[in-house]
Amino acid sequence: MFNFAEKYDEYLNFFNISLENCLNSVDKTAPNVIKDAMRYAVGDGGKRVRPILCFAACEMLGKDKSAVKNLALGIEFIHSYSLVHDDLPAMDNDDYRRGKLSTHKKFGEAIGILAGDALLNFAFETMLKEENPSQFYLAAMSLIAEYAGYSGMIGGQTLDLQNENNANATEKDLYDVYLNKTAKLISAPMLAASCVNGKKYYDEIKEYGYHLGILFQITDDIMDECGTLEQIGKTPHKDDAENKLTSVRIFGLDGAKERAFTHYTQAKKIISEIDKIGFLTAFTDKMYERQS
Ligand code: IPE
Ligand code: IPE
Ligand code: MG
Ligand code: MG
Ligand code: MG
Repeated sequence: MFNFAEKYDEYLNFFNISLENCLNSVDKTAPNVIKDAMRYAVGDGGKRVRPILCFAACEMLGKDKSAVKNLALGIEFIHSYSLVHDDLPAMDNDDYRRGKLSTHKKFGEAIGILAGDALLNFAFETMLKEENPSQFYLAAMSLIAEYAGYSGMIGGQTLDLQNENNANATEKDLYDVYLNKTAKLISAPMLAASCVNGKKYYDEIKEYGYHLGILFQITDDIMDECGTLEQIGKTPHKDDAENKLTSVRIFGLDGAKERAFTHYTQAKKIISEIDKIGFLTAFTDKMYERQS
């Protein structure tokens, strides 16, 4: 019978082993400090939500998780670099990440910037290690590049900064930021898995990824407001301190919780119709419950 905890551990272990093998393959002649900073930034403490979504979607659609191993690694490298840069003084200026000092605090700002850049390149190097990639695999890579780039995550991070201290920001501004900075990198691993499976359930997964991604960012906002450093592994109350445009600011704490419930309900409805295994349906519950 399907056991969520067992399946979750299987995905996590598969990711951790793949990550270790991948990091051990780096060029030995490169400067130690950049290799150490890259390892530090992707290392312990991350929840690995995006690779787990990638493996689970791939298996739900029919192929073994090994078919998306390099894509899942690439997405986690891109996500980790986005966090390193997000924490820089010029952006959110955060001293803690994943329960330890943020990368620029540990290695200095210049190496922090370079480690982020290096992880982005390493992401594509890793994804291109695939032997004989099919046209579907290349379509998945192209989607990841787009969803992580100027019209995806980077575009969203730009809007996020532009809306700092914006007292006139609207609900539409908020959703533009959240779709791009967060939901695109939550959708990308599952859409990439769909591409590898011949674009199976592509439109449904896109819709699911949108609601799950918005839910994920709203619960992140709620935890920033209500959590402790120990619970969230990063400095709490940072959004308020930096005058960020967040769901808590626009809707209030109770309103943000209501929005989280709305997106959770939508996400669950879509995924439960196509998810015969049950992992992603249960994972959606976990994403909703993490706020409390
Ligand atoms: C943090 O992402 C950034 C957001 C999009 C809210 P995660 O909460 O997935 O961060 P890690 O990878 O677990 O550290
Ligand atoms: C970050 O959003 C989204 C990224 C693309 C990195 P946040 O700024 O809210 O993420 P945290 O709270 O620092 O993890
Ligand atoms: Mg930010
Ligand atoms: Mg931040
Ligand atoms: Mg946050």
